Amino acid sequence: ISIKKFIEGIPKAELHLHIEGTFEPELMFEIAKRNNKIISHASIDELRKAYSFNNLQEFLDIYYAGANVLINEQDFYDLTWAYLTKVHEQNVVHVEIFFDPQTHTDRGISFDTVIRGIHKALEDGKKQFGISFKLIMSFLRHLDEASAFTTLEQALPYKNWISGVGLDSSEIGNPPSKFERVFEKAREEGFLTVAHAGEEGPAEYIWEALDLLKITRIDHGNRCLDDNSLVQKLVELQIPLTLCPLSNLELKVVKDLKDHPIVTMMNRGLLVTVNSDDPAYFGGYMNENYQSIADALQLSKKQITELAKNSFSASWLTDKEKENRI
Ligand code: ADE
Ligand code: ZN
Repeated sequence: ISIKKFIEGIPKAELHLHIEGTFEPELMFEIAKRNNKIISHASIDELRKAYSFNNLQEFLDIYYAGANVLINEQDFYDLTWAYLTKVHEQNVVHVEIFFDPQTHTDRGISFDTVIRGIHKALEDGKKQFGISFKLIMSFLRHLDEASAFTTLEQALPYKNWISGVGLDSSEIGNPPSKFERVFEKAREEGFLTVAHAGEEGPAEYIWEALDLLKITRIDHGNRCLDDNSLVQKLVELQIPLTLCPLSNLELKVVKDLKDHPIVTMMNRGLLVTVNSDDPAYFGGYMNENYQSIADALQLSKKQITELAKNSFSASWLTDKEKENRI
């Protein structure tokens, strides 16, 4: 069978996905209308045309603006449900997704509203599609430590619904060390930890995520290749990297997908996975991400199988659950 059919058919887990990054313009306009919110672009087409980025920050500015129309629990439900419907068609059977509470609580939306909507959709996705899930609460690293602590406090009543905490947003100038104490508290409360590191920022930030935040996975991690001893460490500990090919292309982390480091990383023994990051903004969900690197780097079915298997081994499913999924 063709590589395309092979990718479509193989069961996959998604481990690096921002739910706010799945907000398609069609749904954004629909929700804006019912909430009497104005979108600064005149039409769906105009909005899509604005999705052209030179770096991470240019994307983040548009991504946060888009989230402004989300007000009610139903909005968060609809957003999450649309994502699950989409990835169900792509044979994604397990998801570990991020939400950014501060993006909403800073606009006066309650933590409760946000998490209830997302959680309810995830439960329905499990029932209707059999998609298992974990939810990861991500701190915005451009905000201060106090704001992250407040967010962690707000999350405590919902501990059963949140498996881990993460760190995202503007990387350069906001190193993991800024959140060492928050992550320490989060671990004490029983949360697993991950962090975006080495997307635009240096290898040093990946070291900090490992040593100071005690992360179990690195989100992106592209820049680890600048530091041989870091690569050695990540291989030795089998710390997974959640790579996002189309995101890297759209945010100019790589110039061309032919330059994407995924194969180099696999060959060096790193545990790497393929993910979509913010699919509504970067032009593709899981299968499009697999397909685009398969095309650019001439991946074999064996390599695609390895990547799909990695997505489960790198997940937070138990060993028994993994056996049933792979
Ligand atoms: N928030 C959403 N997508 C992100 C990314 N790729 N990097 C950092 N923060 C993000
Ligand atoms: Zn991300």
